[in-house]
Amino acid sequence: MKHYLQFKDLSAPEYAYLFARAALIKHKFKTYEKHHTLLDRTLAMIFEKASTRTRVSFEAGMYQLGGSVVHLTTGDSQLGRAEPIEDSARVISRMTDIVMIRTFEQTKIERFAAHSRVPVINGLTNEFHPCQVLADIFTYIEHRGSIVGKTVAWVGDGNNMANTWLQAADLLGFTVHVSTPRGYEVDQAIAGVRSADSYRVFTDPLQACRGADLVTTDVWTSMGFEAENATRLQAFTSWRVSAAMMAAGAPGALFMHCLPAHRGEEVDAEVIDGPHSVVWDEAENRMHVQKALMEYLLRGKLKE
Ligand code: CP
Repeated sequence: MKHYLQFKDLSAPEYAYLFARAALIKHKFKTYEKHHTLLDRTLAMIFEKASTRTRVSFEAGMYQLGGSVVHLTTGDSQLGRAEPIEDSARVISRMTDIVMIRTFEQTKIERFAAHSRVPVINGLTNEFHPCQVLADIFTYIEHRGSIVGKTVAWVGDGNNMANTWLQAADLLGFTVHVSTPRGYEVDQAIAGVRSADSYRVFTDPLQACRGADLVTTDVWTSMGFEAENATRLQAFTSWRVSAAMMAAGAPGALFMHCLPAHRGEEVDAEVIDGPHSVVWDEAENRMHVQKALMEYLLRGKLKE
């Protein structure tokens, strides 16, 4: 049994399979062809933080695969009344086939997985967001072909998305240019990467974008860090992705944002709504890649 708790939980050949499978699944979705590979399987979704894309993509995706979904939040379950996560894992995994969790500390999802009888998927923790980077790389491949040897510029917070990009670069063979304000740097130990070979740190975000094939960012204040919002607004002012940063990128550079976005904060409206942006494809692709991921975790590699 495999869990998907961080990006490095799968290998490069497994990602190659998932990207090809997601393309097939997306084609079937677009042509209204039934694809019921998880008939009668049940997905439990546990949300301890808010969500739009993760909820809709997992829920719609599981129904499209022929399965069903149970939706739990901290507020409407015993999770919010201090039932141990280990006990919740034991119970939920006896009644469902696969679990997706959005929570705070990575250690919490790891404890759940350690006591689960079924595969567990990380739907975002403070440290990682592997399903999002899975969708982002699939989106890059759709638009530009292989990401191997390319350069991704990360501009903004050294957060769960930045950590996940570092893992992906390490595993799949591309480079990340990271530019964050001082005090918000990525931490290689938290990111869980073996070496600094696949990323370069820049103090100037414009320099980080020079020659980049993809420029990407996230909100300045991630969920769980709201108390720091005022301080962050000041610290991040120079890390707003601008048209000048996109112009510094390689010809045909793409812009991505995992959303939700704040126009005028981490990105200018002319960038996210402009010709470099593929954010709507990126959001939609969450569903297609996660369908491939759920199939893979439950049934392995499928041919049809
Ligand atoms: N990108 C992302 O995870 O979106 P939600 O927070 O809406 O799920």
